Amino acid sequence: MGPQIYTRYAKYYDVIYSDYLERSVPKLIDFTVKVFKEVARRDVRDVLDIACGTGGPTIELARRGYRVVGLDISRDMVRIARRKAVSAGVRAVFKVGDMRRIRFRRCFDAVTCFFTSINYNVSDDDMLSTMKGVFRALRDGGVFIADAPNPYRAERWLRGEPVVWRVDHDDVSILILDSVVMGRVSALIEWERTLVVKEGGRVTMIPDYHRLRAYSANELKLFAKLAGFSDVRVYGDFRVEDVEPRDARRLVLVATR
Ligand SMILES: C[S@@+](CC[C@H](N)C(=O)[O-])C[C@H]1O[C@@H](n2cnc3c(N)ncnc32)[C@H](O)[C@@H]1O
Repeated sequence: MGPQIYTRYAKYYDVIYSDYLERSVPKLIDFTVKVFKEVARRDVRDVLDIACGTGGPTIELARRGYRVVGLDISRDMVRIARRKAVSAGVRAVFKVGDMRRIRFRRCFDAVTCFFTSINYNVSDDDMLSTMKGVFRALRDGGVFIADAPNPYRAERWLRGEPVVWRVDHDDVSILILDSVVMGRVSALIEWERTLVVKEGGRVTMIPDYHRLRAYSANELKLFAKLAGFSDVRVYGDFRVEDVEPRDARRLVLVATR
């Protein structure tokens, strides 16, 4: 792993993504529960949420009665997740760790990886070790769910157009300057983000850099098959359907062990 990610930026993650956390996560978990019930070939009780960040989806799963473990490479994100679980009054275990080196063996009925986190695997080796670790962590009949952007819908990233947006929350106001450029051959995504944070009358600039890689639906399925998964599908935009969609903004890999 290159430079440390999600450090100073962690503190502002929940403000920047408040819309995702408050409005999208409950729907994301509705979909997840549907997959647990309709696709998994076993009862789902124990869930490992890899790259769990500040624990939005992990805590929502715990609220719905699942026994959850969240794993994230960023100590700062995990610290926030633990604090949030306590204030939400739910039981959730959070650990600091790398999704490419998952140490659990046959402990879980499901593994989840939400909100483009699977795309932090930039090399074939990274992706394969993540998928193999997930496979080993699952009990037979368990499922892996990961959502990713569809590279065939990434026109803006291909054009490399900068985007500026703003969020205001209580006494914090953040201007977000994003430059996201995706390679047409490598599918590598160079994501440069600068936060201009106005808080308590002070203005601070926080630069942040993320390197990701886009995967097509077929590539996601191929890596899952190489890792040993038998039943591998891709859903579009969080809809459980019998037929693979013709088009979708978000791809959701669902792989059963
Ligand atoms: C976009 S956030 C998503 C967080 C969370 N899943 C959510 O839905 O809010 C991506 C997260 O991936 C984590 N991450 C990136 N690379 C990782 C790795 N190799 N192992 C574990 N976590 C990683 C980052 O620290 C960050 O918290």
